[in-house]
Amino acid sequence: MEKEIHKQTHLTPNLPDYKKAYKGFQWEAVRTELGLVPPVNIASKAVDQHARSWRRNKVALYWEGAEGQNCKYTFYELQKESNRIGNMLLNLGVRRGDRVFVFLPRILELYTSVIGIAKIGAVAGPMFSAFGPEALRDRLLDSGAKVLITHASLRERIHQVWDELPELKHVIVVGASAPSASLRAGSGGHVPLRKGEVSFEREVEKAPRGLEVEDMDLEDPLYILYTSGTTGKPKGVVHVHHDMLSHYITSKWVLDLKEEDVYWCTADPGWVTGTVYGLWGPWLNGCSQVTFEGRFEAEHWYSIIERYGVTVWYTAPTALRMLMKAGPEVVKKYNLKSLRYILSVGEPLNPEVIRWGMEVFGLCIHDTWWQTETGAIMIANYPSVPVRPGSMGKPFPGTEAAIIDGKGHKLPPGNSGILALKVAGPLPTQGWPSMMRALWGDEKRYKEYFTIPGWYTTGDTAHVDKDGYFWFIGRADDVIMTAGHRVGPFEVESALVEHRAVAEAGVIGKPDPERGEIIKAFIVLRHGHKPSIELEEEIKEFIRHRLSAHAYPREIQFMDGIPKTRSGKIMRRLLKARELGLPEGDLSTLED
Ligand code: WTA
Repeated sequence: MEKEIHKQTHLTPNLPDYKKAYKGFQWEAVRTELGLVPPVNIASKAVDQHARSWRRNKVALYWEGAEGQNCKYTFYELQKESNRIGNMLLNLGVRRGDRVFVFLPRILELYTSVIGIAKIGAVAGPMFSAFGPEALRDRLLDSGAKVLITHASLRERIHQVWDELPELKHVIVVGASAPSASLRAGSGGHVPLRKGEVSFEREVEKAPRGLEVEDMDLEDPLYILYTSGTTGKPKGVVHVHHDMLSHYITSKWVLDLKEEDVYWCTADPGWVTGTVYGLWGPWLNGCSQVTFEGRFEAEHWYSIIERYGVTVWYTAPTALRMLMKAGPEVVKKYNLKSLRYILSVGEPLNPEVIRWGMEVFGLCIHDTWWQTETGAIMIANYPSVPVRPGSMGKPFPGTEAAIIDGKGHKLPPGNSGILALKVAGPLPTQGWPSMMRALWGDEKRYKEYFTIPGWYTTGDTAHVDKDGYFWFIGRADDVIMTAGHRVGPFEVESALVEHRAVAEAGVIGKPDPERGEIIKAFIVLRHGHKPSIELEEEIKEFIRHRLSAHAYPREIQFMDGIPKTRSGKIMRRLLKARELGLPEGDLSTLED
């Protein structure tokens, strides 16, 4: 094992004694600390309460656009803007419980919209701006979204599938009509709107600033995020206002956020990390956040840390590996002295990356583990606990993690098995406040997580050492983790077979040093089509545009047939074993 890393921060951690906190932990105490008296709305706690306090003029959000434009937003401004958005939605007939999806680049309106939606008790569905029409259709159709907030530069994609979405009543378009401020990124000027479309700027302008925030039951839905499994379409994970307890305390104890911090979460709210730790959690703690609309670019990222004086930084292994690749010369050009704490999530954090972090930042990178389903960090490295490089750390107070076998028996240290979290009581399971309450409209798949009594099974395999540190091994299913994105092979296969030349497709994750995994597709062509480089490129582009830029296969291999089980299921495990030159395992179910 690598050497433990001890000195982690020069400030007193918010969680000074992990053992003690774990032992005596009570959610009730967190409730009291946050002053959580239901009925209450998360937006009142995360935004309005600060706007009414001495934090009124504190910067809530430093925004930087893709073209270098930037601005600051105070808690007061966030309150005002989100109120107007809430009123705009009410004017359009949105009511408590209705789903409002958000399909925007990482611009200010993305943040204010999500808050405005929560304020009127509607359910927000943030989506990546990289999504293509298929990905949009699946999510909007499944959730029965009534309204979509999008941007002039993206609306074309929704036009392609609107006919298939009977419940979608309004599309609100940002940047279509405004003489728009530089902030309304990439504003298209005057775009003629279609029937059903309205201008965001015009509607917001009409809407009053005063809004009576809807009082919510803690169990009322707050947001839905779609995530991938092995089979079927993406599942809509439903989270509720009660989540705020987990958001608040994990941000405080794991991210170690303090009043004077400038915090940067590099994730998009289309990913759960960006919603929970790039929006709600830090703001519940009254913290100033930075967000950057643009894509990854090593120099630009370092310059953001320097220019905004970022102190706490939550990012992902892929990004860290790309920074590492960019080389030490680039780091040296920037003054990164403001940084005091770095965290990572989404994939295994290689010890090599931690060593590199120690070298260039003089700081230890802290790995954290959680899932869309768990709604908050579940296993983590803490500033007060020595880090064992390569380990995800220890369970967050108030949760019990274990390695179990298929019958629910705990396995002794060192044995690999199913990573599971203890749950108690009937479903919807109340293991901890931010646990998902449902999969939208799919009770059957929801229950599949709880087939071992007393446990929530995560889909990951891991082991635990004798000191209680958890070590990630892999996914127990076929889900692909590419550059931090969770991609279901089934979604990609379904999109592939829609291409005119593709008869059948099998999709796997192939290990990749930079991205963790890349997507590789095995394709059988339809009669009359021949393999070629041009066709390969065409298919890649097709998926990139139809589905999402995250989900296109970087490698394609044409085949005469795809191995399948007798019942017709694609044997992805076999495709993978053959790709990696591993033993093929039990082939008794293989079709002749
Ligand atoms: C993987 C992410 C290794 C894991 C917030 C999990 C990780 C899935 C780590 C959830 C980590 C997340 N080390 N693997 N520190 N963190 N994962 O829902 O397979 O997009 O089950 O949420 O990411 O992905 P999701």
